[in-house]
Amino acid sequence: MAAFGSVFMPKMALTTFENTQWTETNIVSSDSIQLHPGAHVLHYSSTCFEGLKAFRHADGSVHVFRMDQNIKRLAQSSRLLSLPAIDEEQVSTMILDIMAEYASDVPEPPGSMYIRPTHIGTEAAVGKAAAPSLTSMLYILLSPVGDYFTGGAKALRLLLDETGMRCAPHMGMIKSGGNYASALGPITKAKAEVQADQILFCPNGDVQETGAANFLLIDGNEIITKGLDTSFLHGVTRSSILTIAADLGMTVTERDLTVAELLERAAKPEVEAVLSGTAAVLTSVGTFIHEDKEYQVGSGEPGPIAQKLRQTLNDIQWGKTADTHNWLTKVC
Ligand SMILES: Cc1ncc(COP(=O)(O)O)c(C=O)c1O
Repeated sequence: MAAFGSVFMPKMALTTFENTQWTETNIVSSDSIQLHPGAHVLHYSSTCFEGLKAFRHADGSVHVFRMDQNIKRLAQSSRLLSLPAIDEEQVSTMILDIMAEYASDVPEPPGSMYIRPTHIGTEAAVGKAAAPSLTSMLYILLSPVGDYFTGGAKALRLLLDETGMRCAPHMGMIKSGGNYASALGPITKAKAEVQADQILFCPNGDVQETGAANFLLIDGNEIITKGLDTSFLHGVTRSSILTIAADLGMTVTERDLTVAELLERAAKPEVEAVLSGTAAVLTSVGTFIHEDKEYQVGSGEPGPIAQKLRQTLNDIQWGKTADTHNWLTKVC
């Protein structure tokens, strides 16, 4: 099967910001865009994006999950990168229109349509290292995806890194390409040297997040995760899982967590650790690697509470249980 996110629908919705306004949306071929080689994004990384999903229900209808939250985050990323302000209503219409065009291509559960809004600075101006791009392009790419876990969900190995950082501290809550490039070197090294699946970035002992997912610790009836600050990405899955956990009667604690406390709690047999994100939903962590030592997390295997939370989220997304928080937007 093709790798996650490597197959695209043939067309996408696109608008450009020129002369201080957004153009009308165009539906164009998704296999190429035209950019000047001096475009701001190619030199000074004025780029941000989003990742959300649409799901097919048993009655054939198609629904986008928490679209308003992803559009808000795209607006925030654009603002913090000094890109032109997006028109949130237009982006919402672009997503729903392109989704309607490809509704019949949305895979059955556990598959979905992954939606990738992308916003880039296009002004041809290599002299603008310290000034914003006055023009930009925003497009909505679609990629049908299967189950992230074909071959079975395996508990991950995480390297706890107390010295490095995923990205510059003021960039954490921006979903920008540069942050992923910044984390790639350390992650590649951790994969090769200690066979880690991911790094859990914990600068000065402060447990933050991995390269592309948030981190949550489950200790009995309590779920603990870092409170929102500017140092990490405010995941929509994180927020959904916390809401579901509270609905299920769990205690939700948003506060700083140190590596020392994490390792101490991980030794308890009932403890579970998970990563949350749109692509992988909720993935269990089986092992922490810290200063050349390995620590088993709880049983070392995917645990029952993670499974329950994941199932509840999937049931809402797949229309198998009531959408009590109005998280779904119907496409058709
Ligand atoms: C760095 C990072 N943290 C967290 C997340 C999780 O965010 P969300 O749940 O909105 O997908 C992502 C994206 O998936 C990410 O790239």
